[in-house]
Amino acid sequence: MNTQKLKKIINHVFIKHGLSNKHAKISSNYIIKAELVGAPSHGLARLKMYCNRIKKKLINCKPKIKIKKISQSISHIDANNAIGFVGADTGIKIAISNAKKTGFGMVGVKNSGHYGLSSFYAEQAVKKNLMVWCFTNAPPAIAPYGSTKALFGTNPVCFGAPTGNKIPFILDASASIINRGKIRRAEKLGQKIPAGVALDKNGKPTTNAKKALEGVQLPIAEFKGSGLAWMVDIVSGVLTGANHGGKVKDPFDDLTGPQNVGHLFIVIKPGIFVGKNYLTQIKKNLKAVKRLPRSNMIKKILYPGENKYAKYKKNIKKSIEIPDNILQEMNKLNAI
Ligand SMILES: NC(=O)c1ccc[n+]([C@@H]2O[C@H](COP(=O)([O-])OP(=O)(O)OC[C@H]3O[C@@H](n4cnc5c(N)ncnc54)[C@H](O)[C@@H]3O)[C@@H](O)[C@H]2O)c1
Repeated sequence: MNTQKLKKIINHVFIKHGLSNKHAKISSNYIIKAELVGAPSHGLARLKMYCNRIKKKLINCKPKIKIKKISQSISHIDANNAIGFVGADTGIKIAISNAKKTGFGMVGVKNSGHYGLSSFYAEQAVKKNLMVWCFTNAPPAIAPYGSTKALFGTNPVCFGAPTGNKIPFILDASASIINRGKIRRAEKLGQKIPAGVALDKNGKPTTNAKKALEGVQLPIAEFKGSGLAWMVDIVSGVLTGANHGGKVKDPFDDLTGPQNVGHLFIVIKPGIFVGKNYLTQIKKNLKAVKRLPRSNMIKKILYPGENKYAKYKKNIKKSIEIPDNILQEMNKLNAI
């Protein structure tokens, strides 16, 4: 389907479910963006989930978002259970504004929800020539190292840096081998998941998406990935006052209350220590890697973010393909 037409439909669905025009626009933009960067795990496949939560009043359509200024650089936001896209969008915009004024901006957000891809927010800072770290916690998916029970979310770590060219450096990776959305989408489409990414509830390796969702996802690099997920839980949840330690509610399966996800955004001026020399040095840094001898396994040495940028440029000219059962879900939501 044509991107603009699709965006209008999603926008309309959100407005029908009660979001304001402004919040519907923010949310539909991010959902379409996920499709365009080749991350359908965080796109249309989640529309029904957001609408369900709105209908059950677990996402607040008319949030009174409170912004507390702690200093010129630091702000604390209570998103009042707004849809996660809006809680996070408010947060990153304030972190950017604080960093522009003082060189350093940090914003903690509590009472938010699932915000999609961290790169949505990192990109906004990098476009303003700022360096950025984004963190969010998520519902239990990964077992802490040594345990058999899922407790940490797939908790992505995201870092963005201006490169002096139009393609930003954006490393945006979950602490699990694959993100949970890929497993959710595979379940919806009746597809298998790759081997080696999850265990079923009895601790046996599985490629069955449903069984994987009932079991645990494997972290990247064993205790190191589980440690990263833990760090993200601490900075997103403990630090901001959001849920943590396994208490973030699953947006699909747990309708007992708002998710209370937490996010942390840290934004700095990249010349904070070296001034204009930053751009000279980052360009040298990227070149040093690009010039290395290339493994036969790959066509080109890329930096993080290059692949998503290339997909976006390619996909923006095409229509978005929607699997049949996701289209049916969308049609039902649009008809409400
Ligand atoms: N909101 C949430 O609760 C939540 C939770 C988990 C993950 N997520 C999102 O899911 C996405 C992460 O999924 P993933 O871990 O499966 O990501 P991925 O494996 O697709 O990509 C991870 C990173 O590796 C980089 N990369 C990929 N191929 C590369 C190559 N050939 N050379 C160099 N770099 C390369 C990508 O640019 C990206 O920065 C992120 O956008 C994350 O924010 C969201």
